[in-house]
Amino acid sequence: MKVISVVGARPQFVKLAPIDHAFKKAGIEHLIAHTGQHYDPEMSQSFFDELQISPPDFNLGVGSGSHAEQTGDMMIKLEKIFLETSPDLVLLYGDTNSTLAGAIAAVKLKIKIAHLEAGLRSFNRAMPEEHNRILTDHAADLLLAPTDVAIKHLTKEGLAEKSAMVGDVMVDVCLQTKVRVTSNRPEFGPEISSVNLVNGEYFVATIHRAENADDTTRIKAIIESMQGLPAPVILITHPRLAAKAAALGINLSSGSVTSVKSVSYGQMVYLVANARGVITDSGGLQKEAYIIGTPCTTIRTETEWPETLVDGWNTLSEPNDLAKNALRSKPTSPTTLPYGDGHAAERVAKVLLENFS
Ligand code: UD1
Repeated sequence: MKVISVVGARPQFVKLAPIDHAFKKAGIEHLIAHTGQHYDPEMSQSFFDELQISPPDFNLGVGSGSHAEQTGDMMIKLEKIFLETSPDLVLLYGDTNSTLAGAIAAVKLKIKIAHLEAGLRSFNRAMPEEHNRILTDHAADLLLAPTDVAIKHLTKEGLAEKSAMVGDVMVDVCLQTKVRVTSNRPEFGPEISSVNLVNGEYFVATIHRAENADDTTRIKAIIESMQGLPAPVILITHPRLAAKAAALGINLSSGSVTSVKSVSYGQMVYLVANARGVITDSGGLQKEAYIIGTPCTTIRTETEWPETLVDGWNTLSEPNDLAKNALRSKPTSPTTLPYGDGHAAERVAKVLLENFS
């Protein structure tokens, strides 16, 4: 069986790693098409190196642009690749513009599609990710759901027959990485090394969603709150946030905040595992914090990962309440395993072989 994975953005490289490894073990021929949505070396190549992912067979080099420009350019290039390689299946990941482009290009060519991380819903139609995931789920032939809640959403939309609950492949890579960095502390660059990071007494933060980073009032309130926290904050700064801060003349590294351009996946898992709390608007990081057992404050009005909200492990927060929420005490209840046991990628390989070989 020949499967082609379409990836393009940072979180998709993380999910690709366990899939690539599991496909090798299962004897599935695996091609990788990288759209180039994320192109900075530290947003892209570093993940392939660190997580030992096979190099992409195709680099589309699409880069940044408006939604239509970016998605359209990807579709045109993916169509050529799909025609050239005639895969049995196109595998799509998550909810980015790269996901949607792969879905439209494949469905029009009548190539089978499997969608990993199917069934997630924020019910917020203002999010580009919500458009991407709904459209991709409805174009796909097999919906690989990470949670029971996702299966419920798919069932409501009449997609139950095409759905399979496999767990979340991010758990696979997160747990493996936690073991690696626990026994072998990653080295940090000068900015992070210059901060006095006492275990359990600092915060790690990322803010990149368009609804926060592109909104002047919200982003100012978020940054001011973080800068005023009574504990160091390591802010890993996505290019979208860096651009907005520069446009507003905001120095991100001020007060409690130390801003760094990027960290490796291993450094991130290490930082989260030893932090007092995480402050983020990322989907993946909320879940990683929960899996690792670090409280998270999510600067959004809803989450696609409601399981993380149990007992206050994760709390949704408006920018103005960020400090109060981030400083709450750590829940005492144990975290559970709603996202699977760390073997989701093997299950994906098995389900694909059963359905498409
Ligand atoms: C995308 C996804 C989002 C995901 C996020 C992970 C969509 C609609 N959004 O958002 O769901 O959570 O990736 O990071 O697909 N840029 C660089 N270098 C890069 C990549 C981007 O400088 O390597 C800058 C560019 O100015 C670009 C901006 O970041 O315009 C936004 O990048 P883009 O890929 O369009 O969206 P993300 O905000 O990263």
